[in-house]
Amino acid sequence: MNSIICPVCGEELREESRSMKCGKGHCFDRAKEGYINLIAGTHKKGSLIGDNRDMALSRRSFLEKGYFDILLNELISIIKDKSLPCPHILDICCGEGYYSHKIKEKVNCEMCGFDISKEMVRLAAKRKNGCEYFVANLSRIPVRDKSIDIVFHLFAPFHEKEFSRILKDKGTLITVVAGENHLFELKEILYDTPYKNDEMPPETENITPKEKRKVTGKIHLSSKEDIDALFRMTPYYYRTSDRDKEKLFSFNELDVTVDFCVFIY
Ligand SMILES: C[S@@+](CC[C@H](N)C(=O)[O-])C[C@H]1O[C@@H](n2cnc3c(N)ncnc32)[C@H](O)[C@@H]1O
Ligand SMILES: [Zn+2]
Repeated sequence: MNSIICPVCGEELREESRSMKCGKGHCFDRAKEGYINLIAGTHKKGSLIGDNRDMALSRRSFLEKGYFDILLNELISIIKDKSLPCPHILDICCGEGYYSHKIKEKVNCEMCGFDISKEMVRLAAKRKNGCEYFVANLSRIPVRDKSIDIVFHLFAPFHEKEFSRILKDKGTLITVVAGENHLFELKEILYDTPYKNDEMPPETENITPKEKRKVTGKIHLSSKEDIDALFRMTPYYYRTSDRDKEKLFSFNELDVTVDFCVFIY
């Protein structure tokens, strides 16, 4: 995709054998998996690490089983409804690339994704699916102004200024947050007084959602492994005491509500 820019000087990056280079000579090598690290050299080494390999693998194993495919199908339908011939799409905080990969299979598009976690991006790039993946920070997205038709952004921090900058004038931002009943059964096991999510869109100053869609269903987790993988993907994993975690690990299967709130800007 020709909208990726140099994170040091902002000039366009061009492909040059196994690397990408800008006119000022800043050079970023392709890793053997095919991704580019566009953080290298611009931040202190080790200061930004993101999710580790275990988290990336458990996210991959869970999503590959199709548990969140009602959300995937909704995203595909929103994108197809735009009827753009070959839209430029960016998966912001792409994780291990499940959604960008599946959308690329179904929609004729130029797809890129980035995440701050090298482990996530490495797994995403291993899919060799024709999407371009890079390591980058949301607060400084190395993408040209007004170059993207559709940005999607699932369960990740929001950055209004950057999203507005990179989108074309008639571009679309799709952002997904947890709906009020998302994983409620899991929370009932973990906590004495589980709360419902507030479904509020991220706070913004200059852009407003045109539409809010709810995507809701039930999934049956058929093994301890899947229950654990889902739990690790949630913020609760870090907030729950070992004693409360044990309660969940006594289950071999679990029926859980999935409830997503899709905001279209
Ligand atoms: C909950 S995961 C969601 C991943 C993916 N969107 C999905 O739904 O499978 C949040 C992701 O945001 C990434 N992330 C967090 N802060 C970031 C930042 N400042 N810049 C880029 N990525 C970031 C994490 O590394 C993680 O992969
Ligand atoms: Zn440069």
